[in-house]
Amino acid sequence: MSKKSVLFVASEGLPFIKTGGLADVIGSLPKELVKQGMDVRVVLPLYLKIAVNNHADFDYVSSFDVRAGDIQSMANVYQQVVDGVTFYFIEHRDYFERKDLYGYDDDAMRFGFFQHATCRLLEALHYFPDVIHTHDWHTAAIPFLCRTFYSYREEFRTIKHVFTIHNLAFQGIFNKQALWSALGMDYSYYVDGIARFHDDCISFMKLGILYADKVTTVSETYAQEILTEEFGEHMEHVLELRRHDLFGIVNGIDYDTWNSQTDDHLVQPYSLETIQQKKANKLALQAQFGLAQDEHVMLVGIVSRLTWQKGFYLLTEVLNQLLQAHVQFVILGNGETDIENAFHYFKHAHPDKFAFYQGYNEPLAHQIYAASDLFLMPSMFEPCGISQLISMHYGTLPLVRETGGLRDTVPPYNIVTKEGCGFSFWGKDAYNMKQVYDLALDTYYNRPEDWQQLIRQAMTADVSWTASAKRYIDLYNEITY
Ligand code: ADP
Ligand code: GLC
Repeated sequence: MSKKSVLFVASEGLPFIKTGGLADVIGSLPKELVKQGMDVRVVLPLYLKIAVNNHADFDYVSSFDVRAGDIQSMANVYQQVVDGVTFYFIEHRDYFERKDLYGYDDDAMRFGFFQHATCRLLEALHYFPDVIHTHDWHTAAIPFLCRTFYSYREEFRTIKHVFTIHNLAFQGIFNKQALWSALGMDYSYYVDGIARFHDDCISFMKLGILYADKVTTVSETYAQEILTEEFGEHMEHVLELRRHDLFGIVNGIDYDTWNSQTDDHLVQPYSLETIQQKKANKLALQAQFGLAQDEHVMLVGIVSRLTWQKGFYLLTEVLNQLLQAHVQFVILGNGETDIENAFHYFKHAHPDKFAFYQGYNEPLAHQIYAASDLFLMPSMFEPCGISQLISMHYGTLPLVRETGGLRDTVPPYNIVTKEGCGFSFWGKDAYNMKQVYDLALDTYYNRPEDWQQLIRQAMTADVSWTASAKRYIDLYNEITY
């Protein structure tokens, strides 16, 4: 029997381009699926950064016209194979060779083009996978396009679709004109309500939810949460229609990239057996940021997009109080100006214990995961979260809010049984967080054997892709029988 083939289509993916956890998933799940016997390929846009860093290594694949609505242009396609996964890159210099990945006025046209170009690529290659697995709004219209625009071909009609929601907060909502201009579809899909979302608008994500055979999201708790008004972002009624085809499959991390014994970015590699060597990374980070070099002080790390989602308004509310303790904070991230400004303020107010690096920095992220004792992630909502998985794997205990994937992946410390891999709180009050932070401090300073036990439990927890990749394979098998 030939291998089952799955085509991933996404707006970012490692090792080529990353702004957040989606790229981690696209860079690691296909690789694991290949290991487990699937044929997996990935399509990405050829962004400026990829053009600059990787283009020279690519092989040319094909060029073809893409025509749909107001889109009339040429796509060039290149490829590279990484760890058994074939990556295709769709080149359109005007649309993709820009400073940022998202946030442009013509995003509907850019990702409309990307999705049509992906379908055209399948025709050009005569490659029709068993399953197309799309991710987030940027690729969510593909199941719809295959079953409408491209349905003149039997091969498109028979492809099955899995659509994964990584973050329901971003839904690809555009003026209804985009139905024609960006997707090349007529207004009947607005008029009958299928594509319609809010007044005068359509949502790409809604099309993915309605037209995919199975809809998944990245943790079981988030799969439940998005059916409620609180987390549903007005999409809960649409999701309700697909309740029986909606599954939560928790993310894993790439054990090759995130390996504290072989991580090139660390001054001192370490493992559970040599955990005392972890502190050399702490001393190096303290030196790098001009903080007192003290291996005993509790070092709190954060690596994150700085947005409301991540709970930073809770943090800034009580940060002055958190800094009263014998602690140091090192924060890496960028995002909303208010949060960046608040962190700059704390850096100036507490230069001896608070360090902030504004920006995106891969090596520094590795160093913070390795150097810290506690990793703070008080998200208001979190579909899965990759950062808490990395920190556990690096023996850095996460302190999280019990929501979405954080709830599913961080069993909290139980002072009696000593179970757990970190600390968690549930309420939305900054003082709920402070209480658990105090428990973490107390444990760190006064019950060091408990702290060591939590580290052992965190570092031996299975946060790999092995089990979740199997669940995806089961899902692919179920729809392709
Ligand atoms: P999200 O995708 O919502 O941003 P995740 O926890 O799923 O959150 O994934 C975030 C990923 O991006 C992690 O791999 C994290 O290490 C990385 N990351 C976030 N901010 C930065 C940054 N400023 N510099 C380097 N890596 C970052
Ligand atoms: C999104 C979510 C994050 C998740 C990631 C990968 O960015 O915010 O929780 O881990 O996608 O699935």
